[in-house]
Amino acid sequence: MPDPLADGRYTLPARLFHWIVVLLVVAQFGVAWTMPEIERGTPPLGLIAWHLSIGAAILAVALLRLGWRLSHKAAPPPMTLSPALQMLSRAVHFLLYALLIVLPLMGWANAAARGWPVTLFGVIPLPGLVAKGSALGRAMGDIHGTTAIIFLVVIGLHVAGALYHALVLRDRTLQRMI
Ligand code: HEM
Ligand code: HEM
Repeated sequence: MPDPLADGRYTLPARLFHWIVVLLVVAQFGVAWTMPEIERGTPPLGLIAWHLSIGAAILAVALLRLGWRLSHKAAPPPMTLSPALQMLSRAVHFLLYALLIVLPLMGWANAAARGWPVTLFGVIPLPGLVAKGSALGRAMGDIHGTTAIIFLVVIGLHVAGALYHALVLRDRTLQRMI
């Protein structure tokens, strides 16, 4: 069987997972910034409902993706980076995976504390992550919003890295993911 990693690209499932998550995360920030201000008693309707559903989908796809990543050999890293930049790149990838999981969990805890139902793909009801009224879940509201900003900064670093590969180093790193 030919080696699927022979041309140095990520495999098709890895690439699909990557770009599906990118689309969902872009949509999620768009919804988060246009949904109505959430106050005590705000009903989880319209864009807020979309925020919960897209967020749950991100968590599910991120977990599938991480499972795939840990059980399959990844394409070897590009040889164009100094050891220090290789470490930075690995740290950013690790943070991206961590935030893709922790950020939705925080949002889910806040939704549960508000007594809001969360469903996966609009059909599978998920259990409340914490009890309704939970102090921890309530505290997660602000922390979730702040962590989303940190996520945005890490994504910015990641995209800057991809552009650095494509425009300065002119290596094949970006092609590996396309
Ligand atoms: C990667 C996934 C996610 C991103 C990027 C994200 C992003 C955000 C952002 C930026 C805000 C602040 C909005 C504002 O400033 O008004 C927010 C609020 C919120 N998100 Fe998410 N979110 C994600 C996943 C989730 C999930 C999975 C849930 C629940 C199932 C959720 C529930 C909430 C709730 C309840 C709020 C309001 C918090 C409050 O103001 O007390 N989020 N989200
Ligand atoms: C929501 C935004 C994004 C997230 C959460 C994200 C997440 C990730 C993660 C976790 C990896 C590591 C893959 C692995 O080895 O397991 C990765 C790799 C990669 N991403 Fe992204 N990504 C995002 C946006 C982008 C964008 C916009 C671009 C292109 C401009 C991009 C280009 C790449 C490339 C080229 C790699 C491979 C890096 C390498 O081989 O060292 N990503 N991404």
